[in-house]
Amino acid sequence: KKSVRDVEVTGKRVFVRVDFNVPLEDGKITDDTRIRETLPTIKYLIENGAKIILASHLGRPKGQFVDSMRLTPAAERLSELLGKPVAKADEAVGDAVKAKVAELKDGDVLVLENVRFYAGEEKNDPELAKQFAELADLFVNDAFGAAHRAHASTEGIAHYLPAVSGLLMEKELSVLGKALSNPDRPFTAIIGGSKVKDKIDVIDNLLTLADNVLIGGGLSYTFSKAQGYEVGKSLLDEEKIDTAIGFIEKAKKLGKNFLLPIDAVVADKFGADANTKTVDINEIPAEWLGLDIGPKTAALYADVIKNSKLVVWNGPMGVFEIDIFAEGTKAVAEACAKTEGYTVIGGGDSAAAAEKFKLANQMDHISTGGGASLEFMEGKALPGVVALNDK
Ligand code: 3PG
Repeated sequence: KKSVRDVEVTGKRVFVRVDFNVPLEDGKITDDTRIRETLPTIKYLIENGAKIILASHLGRPKGQFVDSMRLTPAAERLSELLGKPVAKADEAVGDAVKAKVAELKDGDVLVLENVRFYAGEEKNDPELAKQFAELADLFVNDAFGAAHRAHASTEGIAHYLPAVSGLLMEKELSVLGKALSNPDRPFTAIIGGSKVKDKIDVIDNLLTLADNVLIGGGLSYTFSKAQGYEVGKSLLDEEKIDTAIGFIEKAKKLGKNFLLPIDAVVADKFGADANTKTVDINEIPAEWLGLDIGPKTAALYADVIKNSKLVVWNGPMGVFEIDIFAEGTKAVAEACAKTEGYTVIGGGDSAAAAEKFKLANQMDHISTGGGASLEFMEGKALPGVVALNDK
């Protein structure tokens, strides 16, 4: 695939899809990582004299103009980070937008309004895609975090303009792509999170690719049950017990090191004021629930991580947002930070955990994609990437 570096951009109007879907509290951005990560592409385009039109979604406004989901705070933050003025449109298509685009000089930046204010965006309506395309001469997709969505501004537009990847997109695809296609070994995958059904495809794919697969989080209790242990009031997906048994058997057949928790931190209720204790995995009391991996599991996993050349981590080991259930996730994050192996954090909750424990800057790559990195690690094609046509 071609990137923005491989095409002529000087004097061109460039429509750049970014993922500025940043968390906001009372109109203030609480984490601007996704904006900072697009700076290389935007700066490259500024330095090369392009007219830059940025488009993004924010939240899920469902085709309505919702004031709290405008991209104004993101445009303001971008302006601060670039140290130069950034124009902002109050719409994403139409005559007022065309007029703003016409005013752009080489190196100027315009942020369009939230593309999800238009119902056609999520429907991938060709009419909306054409309206986006009419604004520009070139499409650059730098929104890795939204690449799993086939929407008008991520996929549709690529049918009407030459389309290349941005520098963040290129980096994400090369790091995650190398991890999956040509991994340094031993390759360890750590899969956590609460729901088995969300992680079936990723466990399946990584069980084939990795040497070690470490399981934790709420989903692990379905595996404990599959091993024949009682799990008390822990999260359990009865319908997926057979799937869990299937994974245990598949791992055996492939000769993979498939590790499940051997102990757990259990609580008499869910909450920061619960009573807790640590038990072996086959001793979870009937009325208690497991909310974190125990210290023996944490030490076992840390040891595997330490001896790995590549570690891919997706999903927390417990309810790390509550301090009394955070130790397992913290231990895994610390092991990832310390290992000499290359560590890739697959976005979302594990990225938030690394951030919380102030270890984010010690990881080699933290993906800006949540759902997108998960689908990528499941081995699925991302529509926003497939559509990039300027080969
Ligand atoms: C994300 O935050 O994962 C992306 O921005 C995609 O958002 P979405 O799940 O609302 O499509």
